[in-house]
Order: sequence, then C-alpha cells, then structure tokens
Amino acid sequence: MTAGPKAAVTGWPVAHSRSPLIHGYWLEKHGLEGSYIPCAVPPEDAERFYSQFRSSGLVGCNVTVPHKEIAAKACDELDQAAQAMGAANTLWLDNNGRLCGANTDGLGFLGNLDQWSPGWDENRKTAVVLGAGGAARAIVWALLQRKFTDVHIVNRTFEKAQLISEHFGSGTKAVPWDRLWEILGQADLLVNTTALGMQGKPALEIDLGRLPNHALVTDIVYAPLETNLLKQAKARGNPTVDGLGMLLHQAAPGFEKWFGMRPEVDSDLRALVLRDLGD
Ligand code: ATR
Repeated sequence: MTAGPKAAVTGWPVAHSRSPLIHGYWLEKHGLEGSYIPCAVPPEDAERFYSQFRSSGLVGCNVTVPHKEIAAKACDELDQAAQAMGAANTLWLDNNGRLCGANTDGLGFLGNLDQWSPGWDENRKTAVVLGAGGAARAIVWALLQRKFTDVHIVNRTFEKAQLISEHFGSGTKAVPWDRLWEILGQADLLVNTTALGMQGKPALEIDLGRLPNHALVTDIVYAPLETNLLKQAKARGNPTVDGLGMLLHQAAPGFEKWFGMRPEVDSDLRALVLRDLGD
C-alpha cells in the first residue's frame, strides 16, 4: 500500500482525466509521500459518495462532470467561487473533519493568462465569452473578479446565456449567437468555452473580421492545442493563449490542500501532458 495522503479524481467517467498524470508528476518532483488515483463514481452513487466522503479514506478529491453540483451540495463549507457557481471541483477535509469545497476552474483560467500574457487584464475590460456551460460560468466569475466591466455571454441557446447573466448581474449581458458579429468589435478579450474545436467535434467557425487587433484570444479546448479559432486569430495578428494552462493551473490549489505544498506549473509538466495528449 502507498503511504501518505490519498486523493483522487472523481466523476463519471474518469478514465480520460489527465489529473492523475498532473498530480503524479508533482508528487514525484517534490519527493512527497502520497497518491492520486482515478475513482469512478456512477451517477446513482454520487449523492451517497460525497455526503459520506469522510469514510472514503481520501483526504480530498477533484470532481469532474457530472458531479460538481452534487459535490458542492454535500460540502459543509464552500469558497466564494464554488458558492457563486453552485459547483465544486476540489474537495478536502479540514482538521475538524468538515468537508470543504472550492471551484478552481476560474482561478485556472486566470493563472493561465497571467502566466502566458502577464498584465493581460490591465487595459482589457470588455470580454466576449462564447458558450454558457459550467466552464463559461467559471470564466465569467473570474473576469468579474478582475474588474471586467462588460462581459458578453454569447450562446447558441440564448436562454442559457441569460441565466448566467441574471445570476451574475451587473457587468454581464447575454447576447444571441447571431449577434456575435455586432459585439466582436468591442472585444478586448475573446474566449471560447464551447466544445467546438475539440478533437472529434466540429471546428468553431466564426468571422473575426471585426475583432480589434489588440484583442486577446483564448480557448478552453486544449486537444488540439492550436484550435481553428487560435489559428485564425494568430493569422490576423491577435495575441493568443492556448487552453492547456487552464487545466494545469486549476489543479494546483487542490494539490496544496491535500499534500501541503503549492506546486508550480512548469514546462516539464506541460510537455508531459502534451506528450500524453499526443500533440
Ligand atoms: P461545460 O460545462 O464543460 O462548459 P456544457 O455544459 O456541455 O459544457 O456546455 C457546452 C457549451 O458548448 C454550451 O454553451 C453549448 O451550447 P448550447 O447551450 O446551445 O448547447 C456549446 N455548444 C456545443 N455544441 C455546439 C455547437 N455545435 N454550436 C454552438 N455551440 C455549441
């Protein structure tokens, strides 16, 4: 049996998750005792699993789809982001055995841009966010934290964009997909949070004609690393940041909670995950 604290990625399915690779890298790099394993939790077991987390033998876990909301409900305490999103992706037991939850997706998004485009938010206050799923929610939260004043949420299903905008209120606005063209001209930042562009999915085909040259373009898709959107943006001279760093940065706060030290997102980790993705 492996010694030290044991953590896991939980969800359904979990086989595709890169989290064991990421946390395994950090454990080895820092010579720490501990382990991080995949743990599949079927939907019918999810409520019981998270509400009885203390008996799992784990010090904490990551939570992936579709359990982030159920996990948040089971927590005794939530950080500000998880409260705002009603979803938790990182859980840990505190010294009193209380189950604590955080949502680090937004922090991962910010960490990635801070690493690859330092100072990116200094003069950028208007964002266009494509998509209205869980990732969009986390990113809207993150942009409001960084004092963005106009966050346009553009989604194929307009009602889902409206729900997010109603939830966050001031500073956000829902925009129908067919009006994307009109608002692109105001964007300092364009973010794709939809699955479009991911391996096996159709590419995101949008006309960037009106996008200002200074607008930073980023994607949460990281397989392939260079999506059609990023290629198009680069070709017209816009700065771009790929989505891999968001995955790596969102993992760091959990590692710190479970294993006691804040790990770095370094180039060897990035190379390791890229090799695993076959990019
Ligand atoms: P997540 O929680 O990971 O963000 P999700 O909830 O499945 O994932 O959200 C996926 C997003 O991609 C949604 O905004 C979805 O749009 P709808 O709300 O209209 O479904 C968007 N999306 C997926 N396929 C799309 C497509 N072919 N065209 C436009 N948007 C698409």
